[in-house]
Amino acid sequence: MDVPSRDFVPVGSLEELKARGRLVLHGSHRPILVVYDRGRVFALDNRCPHMGFPLERGSVEDGILTCHWHHARFDLESGCTFDLWADDVPIFPIELRNGQVWVKTTSGHADTAAHWRQRLADGLEHDLGLVIAKAVHGQLAADVPWADIVRQVTLFGSQNRDGWGVGLTILTALANVLPGLPEEDVYLALFHGARRVAADCDGEAPRRERAPLGSQPDPATLKRWLGRWTIVRHREAAERTLLTAISAGLPKEMLADALAAAETQRVFADSGHSLDFINKAFECLDLIGWEHAAALLPTVVGQMVAARGADESTAWRQPVDLIELCDKAASQLPELFAVGHGVPCWSNHAALARELLGDDPVTIIDALKAAIQAGAAPGELGQSLAYAAALRVARFGNANEHTDWETAHHTFTYANAVHQMLKRIGTAHTDGHVTAVRAVLHGAIALYLTRYLNVPPARILGEDGEQQLDDLPADVEMIRVALLDAFDRQRQVDLAARLVARHLALGHSPQALIATLAHAALREDAGFHAYQMLEAAVRQFTVWGDTDEGHHILIAAARYLAAHSPTERAALQTADIARRLMRGGELHQEEGASS
Ligand code: FES
Repeated sequence: MDVPSRDFVPVGSLEELKARGRLVLHGSHRPILVVYDRGRVFALDNRCPHMGFPLERGSVEDGILTCHWHHARFDLESGCTFDLWADDVPIFPIELRNGQVWVKTTSGHADTAAHWRQRLADGLEHDLGLVIAKAVHGQLAADVPWADIVRQVTLFGSQNRDGWGVGLTILTALANVLPGLPEEDVYLALFHGARRVAADCDGEAPRRERAPLGSQPDPATLKRWLGRWTIVRHREAAERTLLTAISAGLPKEMLADALAAAETQRVFADSGHSLDFINKAFECLDLIGWEHAAALLPTVVGQMVAARGADESTAWRQPVDLIELCDKAASQLPELFAVGHGVPCWSNHAALARELLGDDPVTIIDALKAAIQAGAAPGELGQSLAYAAALRVARFGNANEHTDWETAHHTFTYANAVHQMLKRIGTAHTDGHVTAVRAVLHGAIALYLTRYLNVPPARILGEDGEQQLDDLPADVEMIRVALLDAFDRQRQVDLAARLVARHLALGHSPQALIATLAHAALREDAGFHAYQMLEAAVRQFTVWGDTDEGHHILIAAARYLAAHSPTERAALQTADIARRLMRGGELHQEEGASS
C-alpha cells in the first residue's frame, strides 16, 4: 500500500481527472484546483488571487489558465501571473501513485517572511494595491515586526522618488499612532502607508545619490552654510552640506537645529508643509533607525529650498506688515531668552494658548515675548501654539466653506511639527541663538490670520457652560457604535464632537476613543490631511493627557474627521479582499456573487 508523503491527500484517479479535465478538492485547507493538461497534472489555489473567483470556471489553453471574472491570466505550471494587478496564484505539489493523484494541501515557502518581503517590494515597484496588502498581511502573519515593514517601505520611498513626499508623511504619521491599535487596524495602517508611498513613487524618476564634502567643517559653519544655500535655493549645495553634517556624526539634535534654522528663514513656508515634512523625516528615523539618516534626511532638502514663504503673500504684508513684526521679535529672541533663563516652573501653557487666539497681532507677539521672559522654554511655546491651533479646529464654525477645514488643519499640523522640532532641538543650539523659535512666531501669526474660522465659534465641552449630552448613550461600546455611525454619514461634525465629549466626560478610556478615531480614519479613503490631523491630535493629547485641554484636542480631530467622512472606502475593500484571500476562505462564494 502506498504511504503518501506528509500532508498529501488523494484527489482521485488519473483516469477520472483526464476525463473531466479538472477537479476541485475541498476540506479544512484552501480549495485546490487540480488540472490535467497535455499529459501533465497541476494544482493551484482555486481562488483567483485577484478577487477570489473560482478558477475552476476559467479556461486553459496552451498552458495558460484564464480567470473568467476579470480575465487575469496565469502560467499553469508556476502560478505566476501575466497580469501583475492580479498577483500570482499559489501552487501545490502533486504526486502520482499507482494511477492515483495526490496533492499536498499546504503551500508554504522555505522562508515565509522573506517571500512576503519580496512580494512587498514587487507591489511597491509596480504600485499594486492588492499585492501590497497581501504582502503586509503576510509579513505580519509571519511575525515580522511592524517597524521592519515601515523601514522597508521608507527606504523604497526614499530611493524611488526624488524627494520626500506625501506618502512618506502618511506612512510615518500612521506608524506613530499604530502602537495603540488592534491588530486589524495595524494591518490597515501599514497598508495605507505603503500604498501611498507606492503611489507617490509611481512614474517618478528615482533619487540620485549625492556625496558629502571631503572636509569636516565645524557644526556652526555647517549650520550657517545650510542656511546660505537654502535662502539662495541651491539644492545640491544644501544637500552636500547636510550629508557632510551627517557623515561628521553631528547629533540628531544639532541636525534638527540646523534644518529648522535654515527652513524658518522663510515664513510659514509652503503653508507649513516644509517644516512638517522635515519633522516627519526625523520621526521616521526614530522609527526605522538613525543608521539610515544619510539615505532619508536629505530627501527633505529639495522642498525646503524651493518652498514659497508667506513673506511673498499679500495677507502677511497688508494691512499690517506681519513679516516686519515677526522679524523684529525674532531679532529680540536671544535677549528675551537670556532674561527668562533660570526662571523656574513656567506653566501657563493653556493661558498663553488663549492669548494666541486673540485678534491683535502685536498683543499676540507680546504675549509670546512675556512668556519667554517668564521662563517658557522653546518647546513649551510650541505646546501652547499647538493647543491654540487645535482650539481653532475644535471651534471651526459650520458656516465656513468646506475647504476652510484645510486652512485650520495646516496651522495645527504646522504647530505640532514646531512643537516636536523644538522639543527635539532642546538646548543644542550651536551658536547660542534660538533661531528655530522663529517658527513659533510664524505659527502664531498664521493662527491670527485664520481667526475668521471661529466666527461664530462652534461650542466645545467646557466652554460657554456645560453642553447637554444626556440624550447621548452612556455605555462605552454604544458611544463607539454611535460615533462610527456618525462618521458613516455626511455633515455629522457636531454630533461627532458631542459623542467624543460624552465619552470623555463619563471618564471612559481616552485610548479606546483614540482607537475608534483611528479606525474611523483607516476605513476611509482618507486624504493626506486626515492622517496628519489624527496623528497630530494623538501626539498633542499625549502631552496634555486626560484634561480639558486634551479633550479639546480630540474633539478637534473628531470634528475634522467627521467633516471628511464617509468616502468610497475602495482601499478598505482591497485590504479586506487581501485579508480574506490570505486567510484561506472561499471568498467569492461567501459573497454570493459567483454566478
Ligand atoms: S481576474 Fe480573477 S477575480 Fe478578477
